[in-house]
Amino acid sequence: MYSDYYSQSEWESVINFSKNIETPFLIVLLDRIKEKFNTFSSNFPYAKIYYAVKANPGRDILILLKELGAYFDVASIYELNQVLSLGVDPERISFGNTIKKAKHIAEAYVKGIRLFTSDCEADIKTLAQEAPGSKIFFRLIIDAVTSDSDWPLSRKFGCQPRMLEELVLQAQASGLDPYGISFHVGSQQREIQAWDAAITQVVNIFKILKDKGINLRSINMGGGFPADYVTKTNPLNVYGDEIRRYLISQFGDKFPDIYLEPGRGLVGEAGILVSEVVLISKKSRSDLRRWVYTDVGIFNGLMEAIDESIKYPIYTTKTGPVGEVMLAGPTCDSLDIIYEHFKYSLPLSLAIGDRLYWLSTGAYTASYSSVEFNGFPPLTTFFL
Ligand SMILES: Cc1ncc(COP(=O)(O)O)c(C=O)c1O
Repeated sequence: MYSDYYSQSEWESVINFSKNIETPFLIVLLDRIKEKFNTFSSNFPYAKIYYAVKANPGRDILILLKELGAYFDVASIYELNQVLSLGVDPERISFGNTIKKAKHIAEAYVKGIRLFTSDCEADIKTLAQEAPGSKIFFRLIIDAVTSDSDWPLSRKFGCQPRMLEELVLQAQASGLDPYGISFHVGSQQREIQAWDAAITQVVNIFKILKDKGINLRSINMGGGFPADYVTKTNPLNVYGDEIRRYLISQFGDKFPDIYLEPGRGLVGEAGILVSEVVLISKKSRSDLRRWVYTDVGIFNGLMEAIDESIKYPIYTTKTGPVGEVMLAGPTCDSLDIIYEHFKYSLPLSLAIGDRLYWLSTGAYTASYSSVEFNGFPPLTTFFL
């Protein structure tokens, strides 16, 4: 099951490399990221691609993407320093988090960052003080469409159109450069129309502001591009074609500057998390489903399985008849149940000590892994 997610040679290198390494750990296949980056570039030739570093800040990934000509979107001063330490030109970096301290804005500005995202009055005021003249993306709230995604980003970010218009005027008056509107349609967004709906809202705001004498020049379409999990998704060209068609319908052949910030869509499928079965049990003699406890769980890599939001394909080399299982992690916390409602089936021959391979785990796994909850160490990553 699911072995077709990777080629035979990818499997051989993963299994050979990992044979003698103590689980759990994440393997990232760098060639996959290279291939995805090239697919993004060819399907969105008019866009600048800012990798959302939060998805996986692994050093080898950042170096690879730097070499491929990617730009970077950072969420914190720590990510910024990590990217700068690799010699990336600050002009290739945006500070995309709407929530940031004044001293971090000031530090970013001193280090050359001139592109920020904002969604409220207080932050615009701080940006005007600490990062004068910088380009600003104003983040639009788009609740209606984010609810279709598997990992919504909800109402925590962005503001309503009326407030956004006021912020643009405030930014202009305080010497900032109102550059464009950003949005995020929700992570693992499979509905292609989500982008069209958001662009429609952006175009409306562009028109209203134009009447007030302000020309916004850019749209930042965020991330949201999906990875293949248990449910497979459309290939990227389907998203690329539809978004391009929609942009043409709105702007003809003179697009505003377009930015993308893919995280999951760029690195998700490149990761294989290798774990070991610690225990298999039943709660009563008549139980039809087995509990399978593994050495990876919610706190050391599979955070996005919380509420069963992201359903990772699981592969085992064991074969034969299968039976339903509940999957849980190794800690003493009852939140550490990975899948209980969604019915996974694994071979009846699965035994304690067998390895389970969690596929498409390149994004939001290692970076979410806790430091030592219950004493379990953070997830180690190897790059192949
Ligand atoms: C501002 C911003 N950009 C990009 C991303 C990456 O999104 P995704 O991983 O869905 O591509 C995120 C994710 O949280 C985000 O907050």
